[in-house]
Amino acid sequence: MKALILAGGFATRLRPLSCTRPKILFPVLNKPLIEWTLESLSKSGIKEAILAVNHQTAFHIKNSKFSKGKVKITYSYDPPKKPLGTGGAIKHAEELLGNDNFLVVNGDIFTSINYAEIIKKHEEKDVTATVALCAVKDPSRYGVAEFGDNGRIKRFIEKPQRGESPSNFINAGIYVLNHEIFKYIQTERKVSLEREVFPKLAKEGKLFGYLFDGLWTDIGKAEDYLEINKTLLDDLYGRLKNVKGSHEWINEPVFYDESVKVEKGSIIGPYTVLGKNVDVGKNVQIKNSIIFPGVSISDDSLINGAIIGENVVIGRWVKISGNCVIGDCAVIGDNVSLAKGVSICPAKEVFRNVSEARCII
Ligand code: GTP
Repeated sequence: MKALILAGGFATRLRPLSCTRPKILFPVLNKPLIEWTLESLSKSGIKEAILAVNHQTAFHIKNSKFSKGKVKITYSYDPPKKPLGTGGAIKHAEELLGNDNFLVVNGDIFTSINYAEIIKKHEEKDVTATVALCAVKDPSRYGVAEFGDNGRIKRFIEKPQRGESPSNFINAGIYVLNHEIFKYIQTERKVSLEREVFPKLAKEGKLFGYLFDGLWTDIGKAEDYLEINKTLLDDLYGRLKNVKGSHEWINEPVFYDESVKVEKGSIIGPYTVLGKNVDVGKNVQIKNSIIFPGVSISDDSLINGAIIGENVVIGRWVKISGNCVIGDCAVIGDNVSLAKGVSICPAKEVFRNVSEARCII
């Protein structure tokens, strides 16, 4: 079976980082998300993946290094300047997908789903669409499934009010579809699979759910992106003690590239990931954070709960608080304090404190 990975669209969240790289290239424990997805697809017997991309995404993917493993990759390009939506992008790849059933995966999710299981379930029933559903604590941010009989889905309710959700099971952005789906999508028009196609299928009793247990995160929000790295660190440390040797600066759990340099008196962790060539000065403290490659952090700075983009330069005595997102190549001057939730655009130079959550452009 072929897999179609949806990796276009325009990212609206985690902007300072997603405007310089598509979310499928975000590192999760220092490995691009796409690589995790391809590994997982390969384990489930998928040998070919089609990446449905727009031109920006294609540009970044082709200029980045990630391992494709044993999966053969082909591309389906959205027409220039014309986003097709999730349904339109599937229709656009119709020829490449051929006549068999196929798997669709939203490119910006991290999951431990066993793809082979949902494929098996779909083929046993021989239905038009099977949607992976996972249980979340707070379904109010997602499309929530209301169930009919025999595993059918009656409808998805988008972002229900707290307490009014028909279930805890949300659309996980993973589908197995059969060729009949193309009859439901108009050609070369923006079509949302979730909002336009699924309601029709549900009405006709052709939409089924597959419940799965395991990890699932849409990495679109800073909290969620930090959380999935944290969960994986716990998992890794649970299985392997001292993942990559031990240093005096480590406050476990920490994941780091061997090329990092950390000077005397600094403490890194818990729950911190340091990318390639990260350079940390003296007496720095970093916790609960993701530091992308090439970042330099000078003496006596404090970072707690932030995501720091590639090649950012951070001065001395800097304080960066929870859920701050710093775009690539930004410069944060000496003594600057950034309050919770501040975003800094790529290449921006900041020399004054920012005392409330806002985006500095
Ligand atoms: P935001 O981050 O809030 O903008 O939404 P999203 O991207 O998480 O959700 P959406 O439902 O729009 O997209 C689901 C998946 O489909 C994501 O992986 C998108 O990258 C992808 N996608 C959305 N629209 C398009 C499109 O027009 N073309 C292609 N190729 N992929 C798309």
